[in-house]
Amino acid sequence: MASITIRNLDDSIKERLRVRAAAHGRSMEEEARIILGDLVEYAPTPVAAKTPIQRGSLSERRILLIIGGGIAAYKCLDLIRRLRERGARVRPVLTKAAEEFVTPLAIGALAADKVFTELFSREDEHDVGHIRLSREADLIVVAPATADLMAKMANGLANDLASAVLMATDKRVLIAPAMNPKMWDHPATRRNRATLAKDGIHFVGPGTGEMAESGESGAGRMAEALEIVTAIETLLDRRPKPLAGKTIVMTSGPTHEPIDPVRYIANRSSGKQGHAIAAALARLGATVRLVSGPVAIPDPESVSVVHVESAREMRDAVEQFLPADAAVMVAAVADWRTANEAGEKIKKKPGETAPALQMVENPDILAGIGHSKLRPRLVVGFAAETQDLLNNARVKLDKKGADWIVANDVSHETGIMGGDRNAVRIVTRTGVEEWPNMSKDEVAERLAARIAAALQTVEV
Ligand code: CTP
Repeated sequence: MASITIRNLDDSIKERLRVRAAAHGRSMEEEARIILGDLVEYAPTPVAAKTPIQRGSLSERRILLIIGGGIAAYKCLDLIRRLRERGARVRPVLTKAAEEFVTPLAIGALAADKVFTELFSREDEHDVGHIRLSREADLIVVAPATADLMAKMANGLANDLASAVLMATDKRVLIAPAMNPKMWDHPATRRNRATLAKDGIHFVGPGTGEMAESGESGAGRMAEALEIVTAIETLLDRRPKPLAGKTIVMTSGPTHEPIDPVRYIANRSSGKQGHAIAAALARLGATVRLVSGPVAIPDPESVSVVHVESAREMRDAVEQFLPADAAVMVAAVADWRTANEAGEKIKKKPGETAPALQMVENPDILAGIGHSKLRPRLVVGFAAETQDLLNNARVKLDKKGADWIVANDVSHETGIMGGDRNAVRIVTRTGVEEWPNMSKDEVAERLAARIAAALQTVEV
């Protein structure tokens, strides 16, 4: 096995490693091991490795590509090439700002089509017109979707060709957001993201990483061309899908219950299982509305995601997505929140004892759905237990009005919470199905297939 010798590293790397190791109170070897471990754990598998070129996979599919004005616009050159090598016809629309980053000449040459830029072009309106432009496509893709374009879409503005096309279309829309992390996290963008997800807009990315601006990193990097291609292929897949036309509302991840502006109560849920289920259901053709608590993983592909923090925000978002054909509640919702969240940071005062937190119960989202007038036909809950798994799951099945409970043992030694594998039992009114230990993706595939089968029958 290969080994790393610190002394063989470049001096500048050695110096930075020394400072990092000192800051963490570790040896340099230990620090290097941890950095490598994190890399292996979190680095995405290169999409190219996962996605062999499917020549013809988009044969004759018409894609209207709206290119927004951001530095990531350069990636569209590659995107157009990848789409065309799969047989797609790409018709580009450039915003005014996009022309600052890529030229219509380069885009037009790669797309082998006319590039549209003006809303009030006498020639273009006569030739195609923005209404026809918006309808003569199988899918509209916005890449990069800037904060400005997203704001326009969320608020129904139509003062240039790109936004007018987006308003006039009756086709599905996929957006690949790209912006500075602060802009992505700004409350206005968060509101717009939620609105767009509710409007049924599909998202791919953004990813996290270094920004073009030096020294900035975080969420906001546009998805890579091949990731966008995969999302397009998924959306345009013509094979019959068992969950086509079905809407499924889901929750995933933990909730954060604030104590004061800087502190909160949380749990160890990573969202991996819930997000994998959302992606698997979307692959089977379902329209998935996912309400996610704060997680460090990307949004699942082809799923509309609303991001929330607390249990009450999660409940409100879920209610907005009813009615639905099924509900799959995977989130580890905090059972309690603090009775009175402090408006200012709670300070230590000399001589005072530690503050005692008074807690009140949170709404039970699953039980609310299970007993709702708008109850979906199939209601699936999870049960995270550390003891007496099956009995506790059966009690939850009844108490929460669920059809199935997916029960898992989350005792620390199982490594399930936050880990990549899961061993579950499906508890229904008629019995218990024990599934072998498998990856969370495999559990997701199998559960999605079971949900599809159940929704195809009259009785669940
Ligand atoms: N759940 C929910 N809202 C809550 C608590 C739980 O929707 N306030 C849902 C979870 O998403 C999951 C199921 O209920 O689908 C069971 O969650 P779990 O944490 O296992 O159970 P609790 O209801 O918290 O019960 P207990 O604390 O007794 O285990």
